[in-house]
Amino acid sequence: MGQAETNLRDRPAVTQVSLDEYWMPFTPNRAFKSDPKIVVRAEGMYYWSDRGHKIIDASSGLFCCAAGHGRKEIADAVGNQLRELDFIAPFLRGHVKSFELAARVAELTPGDLNRIFFVNSGSEAVDTAMKVALAYHQARGQGGRNMFVSRERAYHGVNFGGVSLAGMVNNRRRFGPTLPGVVHMRHTHLKENAFVRGEGAHGAELAEDLVRFVNLYGAENIAACFVEPIAGSTGVLVPPKGYLKRLREICDANGILLVFDEVICGFGRTGKAFAAQSFGVTPDLMTMAKGITNGAQPMGAVAVSERVHDTIMGAAAEGAIEFFHGYTYSGHPAPCAAGLATLDIYRKEGLFERGAELSPYFLDAIWSLKDLGVVADLRGYGMLAAIDVHPDGTPGKRGHILQNKLFDNGLHLKTTGDCAIIAPPLIAEKKDVDIIVDCLRKTLATI
Ligand SMILES: Cc1ncc(COP(=O)(O)O)c(C=O)c1O
Repeated sequence: MGQAETNLRDRPAVTQVSLDEYWMPFTPNRAFKSDPKIVVRAEGMYYWSDRGHKIIDASSGLFCCAAGHGRKEIADAVGNQLRELDFIAPFLRGHVKSFELAARVAELTPGDLNRIFFVNSGSEAVDTAMKVALAYHQARGQGGRNMFVSRERAYHGVNFGGVSLAGMVNNRRRFGPTLPGVVHMRHTHLKENAFVRGEGAHGAELAEDLVRFVNLYGAENIAACFVEPIAGSTGVLVPPKGYLKRLREICDANGILLVFDEVICGFGRTGKAFAAQSFGVTPDLMTMAKGITNGAQPMGAVAVSERVHDTIMGAAAEGAIEFFHGYTYSGHPAPCAAGLATLDIYRKEGLFERGAELSPYFLDAIWSLKDLGVVADLRGYGMLAAIDVHPDGTPGKRGHILQNKLFDNGLHLKTTGDCAIIAPPLIAEKKDVDIIVDCLRKTLATI
């Protein structure tokens, strides 16, 4: 038993558990272990803590659980799948559900993004997309294109590809030089757009940074430009009006692939299946994860345009492996079953449409917090919003206090630095939005 064991011993639901061995991700471990926030159950819009407190989920777990928690259909699908076929090598062998799920995902994606490569997380999806981009250019005889363009304040997961693309300094600063040949456009977080709901009027010209890189490095050296349509983890940076369209034009003019990282935006968060559709811009590759299984199983995917896919296929000798990439758990039967059950729920319950309908009410409610002195900015689109609070001395300190207090007051959400990110499950009703905003108001007033 570890040193932190006693912290839990007094609690009713969790006893005799050492907290020492588990090294928690993206968590101040020592602080957590001195005051653990343990969750023991979830259903619908709510979690329950080991202290018996009911906690409303204001961030869909971590942007995953659009259909709410404890969905029996998904649990049954996974259980049945594991009883029938628990595992099959994904290389050279197949099972039906991976093909079914790919076809169902392709029904949702825009344009000809109809070739789906399964992975286990958003980070793996990003690294996979980088490899697809490199392989595509090699296949069309432009192997010199191996630079990537990303953006300040971007989050693309934590593998080395994604960290190289990353524009959040804490995720890079301890990990050396990362991959060579990655350059960053400026972010679009502009003071001029403060408190603007939806797309800001200012900043479309920041897309011209991509032209500057073309002029500086030569288009013939650039493989792809990666952006989150709405930069999520950095605090819901909604793109300025016209910005994504301009990126598309510059990519087209220069043979650069445009990649949308839709790990947070995908599966209804912006009112359509993907943000690409909400903003009317179709990328060449799209990464997704989280909502694909409602968070019930680890899974991610890359949707690839038929043109890119067919170019890679066509360049390989007949009978040869076309793309030397994949994971032991790519298209694992259990997440595929979860994904199919999840997409059934999204369709049957019209959850993307439901989110679109609730969005104005949700954003009005968030904007009602504008009068609080501690609120420095509000941003939002669809069922995704952010509240910046004024820093109190050390950046991030107040945000951390806020998320702790919110949890104690019965609300779960994610903070990044001094920004709280709100993304309720799409099953939310107006009364749930009221509960969330009421708790936010009361808690914000105390920090
Ligand atoms: C845009 C984006 N890309 C990639 C990732 C990484 O996903 P994962 O944590 O599943 O590796 C995230 C996670 O939040 C994300 O928001």
